[in-house]
Amino acid sequence: MAGLPSKVFNAGITGVGAYLPERILTNDELQKMVDTNDEWIRTRSGIKERRITSPEQATSDLAVIAGERALADAGVAPEELGLVIVATSTPDTIFPSTACLVQDRLGAKNAAAFDLAAGCTGFVYALATGSQFVTSGTYKKVLVIGAESLSRITNWEDRKTCVLFGDGAGAVVLSPVPKGYGILSFTLRSDGSKGATLIIPAGGSRLPATRETVEQKLHTIHMDGQEVFKFAVRIMGKAALEVLAAAGLESSDIDYFIPHQANIRIIESAAKRLVLSMEKVLVNLDRYGNTSTASIPLALAEAVHSGRVKQGDHIVVVGFGAGLTWGAAVIKWGSPT
Ligand SMILES: CC(C)(COP(=O)(O)OP(=O)(O)OC[C@H]1O[C@@H](n2cnc3c(N)ncnc32)[C@H](O)[C@@H]1OP(=O)(O)O)[C@@H](O)C(=O)NCCC(=O)NCCS
Repeated sequence: MAGLPSKVFNAGITGVGAYLPERILTNDELQKMVDTNDEWIRTRSGIKERRITSPEQATSDLAVIAGERALADAGVAPEELGLVIVATSTPDTIFPSTACLVQDRLGAKNAAAFDLAAGCTGFVYALATGSQFVTSGTYKKVLVIGAESLSRITNWEDRKTCVLFGDGAGAVVLSPVPKGYGILSFTLRSDGSKGATLIIPAGGSRLPATRETVEQKLHTIHMDGQEVFKFAVRIMGKAALEVLAAAGLESSDIDYFIPHQANIRIIESAAKRLVLSMEKVLVNLDRYGNTSTASIPLALAEAVHSGRVKQGDHIVVVGFGAGLTWGAAVIKWGSPT
């Protein structure tokens, strides 16, 4: 946990961008692929449809568009970036990093670039990491992107997982903002002992690709849904309360709550714990499914561009995912001059 009392600058979000692939996959279509139905998916998860990366696209293609949009929104030129972080579990290749592909395509020729892997918590981890470079004065402009093509690591024969995930990308530009604004506090946590509950078993150094690993679909998401569900319900409200306390705030101070979008029942239970009306909770999983690292910046970009978020609003973001990992942050929106 880090309340951030003694730094030179605050780091704030000064631009947001999003991109979603055009192809929509509905629950009715999934019903033709596996033994499931629209009613089960909607009532058990809250998901109605999700987007799917086109055959010509890879994660970097989604990330570049979201990144360009965030830079335009912030009024920042690519050359001004000191750092590009891409949070993803679906990089184009193991190396080079997707962040390097994005750095090149954006023309961010003065930027360092790296990928960050923290499962679906990746965006919150990347937000906190990027903010450290801004608050220390190392870089003035940092681009943080959450981008995923989960459809490429989904087992389309496994009804327990294939109905849940979707593709997309969201991006934010971090810049120095006046004290009292920007990221007021954050927490990043992990519990590696539970790693097997959400795992892609093959394709790394433990089980390199062989004919057998491919036939057994070991390169796709394997998940103990109920264990992940219990973990998520346990940590979501708790992590939010921790960061609020570190910022000297209470849950009644929250203007918008942006939880990782995995299951509407998890989100509702967190809102209940925080005694928050669902009007303050931003939800996009009905339209996009679980987009992993993209879910929070996608929801944020929609809320900002629709004019819902106003200067001075307190936004709490909470993520959880493979690792297991979790993290949260409090952001005071805006950058008054
Ligand atoms: C996956 C999840 C939606 C399943 O919901 P659930 O209420 O726990 O459902 P269960 O796993 O208990 O399954 C209930 C029944 O529905 C069946 N079922 C599972 N998927 C189904 C589907 N897509 N369609 C129809 N039935 C399905 C199961 O086989 C089970 O049948 P059974 O009772 O005959 O064995 C839920 O556990 C969840 O959201 N977990 C968290 C996942 C998550 O957040 N992952 C990402 C983390 S970043």
